[in-house]
Amino acid sequence: MTVNRLLKRQLKKCGIDSLESIDPKKLESFLKLVEASYEENEKSIRMLDRSLEIASEEMREALERNREQSMRMVQQSRLASMGEMVSMIAHQWRQPLNAISLTASDLKLKILMGKSDDNSLVGGLEKIVGYVHHLSETVEDFRTFFKSGKNRTETSFKEIVESLKGIIETSLKNSSIKVVYNLDGNARFNSYPNEIKQVVLNLVKNAQDVLIERGVENPRIEIVARYDGRRHYLEVRDNGGGIDPSILGHIFDPGFSTKEKDGTGIGLYMSKIIIEEHCGGKLKAENSEEGALFTIEL
Ligand SMILES: Nc1ncnc2c1ncn2[C@@H]1O[C@H](COP(=O)(O)OP(=O)(O)O)[C@@H](O)[C@H]1O
Ligand SMILES: [Mg+2]
Repeated sequence: MTVNRLLKRQLKKCGIDSLESIDPKKLESFLKLVEASYEENEKSIRMLDRSLEIASEEMREALERNREQSMRMVQQSRLASMGEMVSMIAHQWRQPLNAISLTASDLKLKILMGKSDDNSLVGGLEKIVGYVHHLSETVEDFRTFFKSGKNRTETSFKEIVESLKGIIETSLKNSSIKVVYNLDGNARFNSYPNEIKQVVLNLVKNAQDVLIERGVENPRIEIVARYDGRRHYLEVRDNGGGIDPSILGHIFDPGFSTKEKDGTGIGLYMSKIIIEEHCGGKLKAENSEEGALFTIEL
């Protein structure tokens, strides 16, 4: 007869060497031993059950606490992104509002000096209407910015830059900055053109800021659109001396700005979100020989 080894040991403890001839007394003490270990076993099972109960209760409470906390966090981040959105709109509106104001002042001056004619009046007013249209598009874009499923449209970098020439030129009019366009080809892609326009305006504004701030001689901004057969690139280059390598890793951080006045630090942060999270592309900054080079890659 084969007997379990553990059982055999217990049997031995009770002085039972062979199962053939069991002394009833010895059998009784053996059974008592078995019973005791059963009880012991049951006790530990009950204890285990209880601690499981306690643990799962604690877990439930922790989960509940976690849920409340994450709901609070969602609420907070929603508030934060709303605040962010408002300051982004304000930021984006500055350039076109400035362009409207400059165009209107120009018209007023011409009228006051008796130098206005119907053509220049109509031309100026048309420009203003165009800028206002751009403003209202901006609001519409921001309204849908956080909603997913917004329709993509077919566009090209060439088309995007060409539609911005008016605003860019007006805002650079009073400076000696020269803008060079190098819009090679018209390769098309599907994306969010109005949002990309905001990014291009941001990059141009930053280049303008640095060229003016540093009083660069023969200031120049170059906008290059190219396509290498796989990816679409839009470069904004300037000859403003570039970005200090020590801050290169921070310029896309929210609120990072080196400008004493009028710096919000939102422009590049927002541009990166638009290009990388919304359009699925890349926005990179580096230094060329003459100045900063920003590349949008889609
Ligand atoms: N073309 C550039 N040349 C040199 N520095 C730049 C250029 N563009 C951006 N920067 C740096 O990046 C910082 C962040 O830019 P941005 O997010 O647009 O904020 P802001 O323009 O309000 O300062 C700027 O303050 C500046 O230091
Ligand atoms: Mg900026």
